[in-house]
Amino acid sequence: MLNDIQTIKNLAREEIEKAHSLKTVHELKIKYLGKKGIFTHKIKSLGLIPQEDRREYGRILNETKNYIEELLAKYENSFKTLELNKTLQTQRIDVTAPGYCIPAGHVHPTTQVLDEIISIFTSLSFNVEEGPEVELDFYNFEALNMHKDHPARDMQDTFYITEDIVLRTHTSSVQVRIMEKTAPPLRVIAPGKVYRCDADVTHIPMFHQLEGFMVDKHVKMSDLKGVLEVFIHMIFGPDTKLRFRPSFFPFTEPSAEIDISCVICKGVGCNVCKNTGWLEILGAGMINPRIFEMAGYAPDQYTGFAFGMGIERIAMLKYGIDDIRLFYENDKRFLEQF
Ligand code: PHE
Repeated sequence: MLNDIQTIKNLAREEIEKAHSLKTVHELKIKYLGKKGIFTHKIKSLGLIPQEDRREYGRILNETKNYIEELLAKYENSFKTLELNKTLQTQRIDVTAPGYCIPAGHVHPTTQVLDEIISIFTSLSFNVEEGPEVELDFYNFEALNMHKDHPARDMQDTFYITEDIVLRTHTSSVQVRIMEKTAPPLRVIAPGKVYRCDADVTHIPMFHQLEGFMVDKHVKMSDLKGVLEVFIHMIFGPDTKLRFRPSFFPFTEPSAEIDISCVICKGVGCNVCKNTGWLEILGAGMINPRIFEMAGYAPDQYTGFAFGMGIERIAMLKYGIDDIRLFYENDKRFLEQF
């Protein structure tokens, strides 16, 4: 009987000493000490041992079991250390290595300029309003004194959705929408996207405009001049000169095209201003009384001015960009400069 235990002990020791991995050690643990393991079986069959030998036999059995347990634990630990060292060697983390650099995005140049323009006009007490980009022909043309056969419609290459619905060609469409629902006095700017079927270095099918208008009793052309002068000086610097050239828009009377002294050559003459020293920057005028009629304002009581400008054009002049298409090509090398 005791020989039997000694044999098992020797066999177990031999097997454990030969083990070459943690897995083998675990397998041996199950073989000798597991629920159905050799030692567990022996302990369970203690009852079969004659009473007088049982004590001694149990003691030796227990001792041997403990010995095997310790041996297994010793091998288990050394294999674990070995594996840990191996992982530390192969999966070494250099905590001093520089991290991944996630490039920071920033505000698009058009938006930057638009934000600046909006903040100038809000500081002059203008409220910001918006209107739809898919617009009724009525608000884009009809209510602005451009009837179906009006020649001024040809000035704008309109995208028609249906006969009565267009992609708005200018932000002037917001004028009547606001006047319809708001009683004067009014001081409003309306920024947003506009659409024209046109494409070259200075034209793209979608661009941004900002409309401004003021309606009250006794609003005069000099108020328009004053507001635009403050605006231009804040955007392009206090030395920039303004020039009003007579022009025509069906919704303003009189109408003017406003030029500024060339911001590139300071008026001396260069290829940006085509050697004239002047840059055309926006359209404006005194709101045609017919528009007030459309909106339901009493034309004999109220006067007002309106102006409209292209945002990309201002950004081009401000940053010296010579091709409007660059704004929307999403070339990071271009965009990162702003
Ligand atoms: N809507 C005109 C355009 O797009 C600009 C403009 C606005 C002119 C307001 C006069 C008054 O060309």
